[in-house]
Amino acid sequence: MPAEDSLVAISSSQEGLVNPYAPPAGPAAIVIFGAAGDLTRRKLIPALHNLGTANLLGEGIAIVGVGRADLDDGAFREQLSGALKPFSAGPDDVRVARGLAANARFVSGTFEDRRTFERLAQVLARVEKEDGTGGNALFYLATAPEYFAPIVKALGATGLAGEAEGRWRRVVVEKPFGCDLESARRLNRDLLETLKERQIWRIDHYLGKETVQNLLVFRFGNGMFEPIWNRRYIDNVQITVAESIGVETRGGYYEGAGALRDMVPNHLLQLLSLVAMEPPTSFEAESVREEKSKVLRAIQPLSPERVLTQAVRGQYGAGLSRDGPSLAYRSEERVSRTSATETYVAVKLAVESWRWADVPFYLRTGKRLARRVSEIAIQFRRPPLRLFRDTPVEHLSRNALVIRVQPEEGIALRFGAKIPGPTVRVGNVAMEFRYEEAFGTRPSTGYETLLYDAIRGDATLFQRADMIEAGWSVVQPILDAWKEQPPSGFPNYAPGSWGPKEAQELLERDGRRWRRIEE
Ligand code: BG6
Repeated sequence: MPAEDSLVAISSSQEGLVNPYAPPAGPAAIVIFGAAGDLTRRKLIPALHNLGTANLLGEGIAIVGVGRADLDDGAFREQLSGALKPFSAGPDDVRVARGLAANARFVSGTFEDRRTFERLAQVLARVEKEDGTGGNALFYLATAPEYFAPIVKALGATGLAGEAEGRWRRVVVEKPFGCDLESARRLNRDLLETLKERQIWRIDHYLGKETVQNLLVFRFGNGMFEPIWNRRYIDNVQITVAESIGVETRGGYYEGAGALRDMVPNHLLQLLSLVAMEPPTSFEAESVREEKSKVLRAIQPLSPERVLTQAVRGQYGAGLSRDGPSLAYRSEERVSRTSATETYVAVKLAVESWRWADVPFYLRTGKRLARRVSEIAIQFRRPPLRLFRDTPVEHLSRNALVIRVQPEEGIALRFGAKIPGPTVRVGNVAMEFRYEEAFGTRPSTGYETLLYDAIRGDATLFQRADMIEAGWSVVQPILDAWKEQPPSGFPNYAPGSWGPKEAQELLERDGRRWRRIEE
């Protein structure tokens, strides 16, 4: 292998650029189960590439793919090069791409076959010797969820999960982590039979998003927000994760999952816990995770009666959306024509703590909505109107702090200002911070930080077993109540809308409205 093709060469040739606050990660073998799949091609490989070009991958990194595909090392390297082509704009990109592909290996075999793991053991021994991976291995489970437990069991049985002095072994587990509370508990138990908790890295890609990580800095690194971050000043919190696309080719998976399972126990509750957590004592993983976990445990479980009034489900029909005519969910590929699966969910939750008592958290997510947007809106209490009694002002809007997670990441503060003129009239204005304007953009898939942290051993952005179970405990009563009572009136919202009318009513009953998101 020519020296310039190796990652060793990449990092040493740019030594001067290494950031002392973010030292390169490694050495380690990155073993991807499901290496021929979509996640690997679209996210993991581009993320590793972005880490490489940012000088965040050190010496001794080797990618090892494992999968059923009948590939040898050469064919796998070609596949990797193909996945990296769109990123090969400049000479650095080309060098990194070549470096990643050059020492990649592939182990072909099924996950049920012990011999696959024996071959993997041989390959790991080889990359340790030839590429200097130090015997470290990050096993990334980018497979269908039914393989998570069997793969980990096989890693244990073949001695691959065992750590030794100076050599770590970690397993990254993708979502979905279980499909309800019981199955999540079972999966945790199964994994813990082979692995120690500190070896299990449960990933949620929402925590890889820059704005989401910024929440901690925003709240605790500024003096002006924390004092008003409580029930005395905040009226309600609205978390929206809206998608304009439908289920696309994932009908098979989505039919059994639905919007609630797919998005709420993981992504939405992660956002909620970052908004609602108490200040941790440090940025150490355990300190941050403990505070997040406490919030999840403080969410009041919904009784079956409350589910009827506090949770709304919807399913998109056919119609004309932004991108033209679109099919109803029931007409999508691998979806039942009478499907009762929800593609939209809105829920009102209460966090029973001194800070948050009586502040509703409204969560909503769905597919085929008006636009793609994820945001957290903190709505402050209204000021008394009395001062304005002799003016034309009849109504004062709530001040809102809007944290835009995607797209156009940023933070906006919305408040009232006097409209110029002789009478007192109030208009709504905003002060905005946009990430791109302030800091420029870096190419990102959202997986860069997560992979970097997993290789470096920083678990702050990963979920502990108890957090996963606490998330499922919140949604389990809704799953149960909905199972008991199949939905009537599906489909109940038009593509390109903001969801079913019941979701509007959910807030209207409380004298509130969803924040209007500009189209
Ligand atoms: C995934 C869900 O976890 O997140 C998908 O399974 C959803 O259904 C996706 O589309 C949304 O992620 P993002 O990063 O595009 O908001």
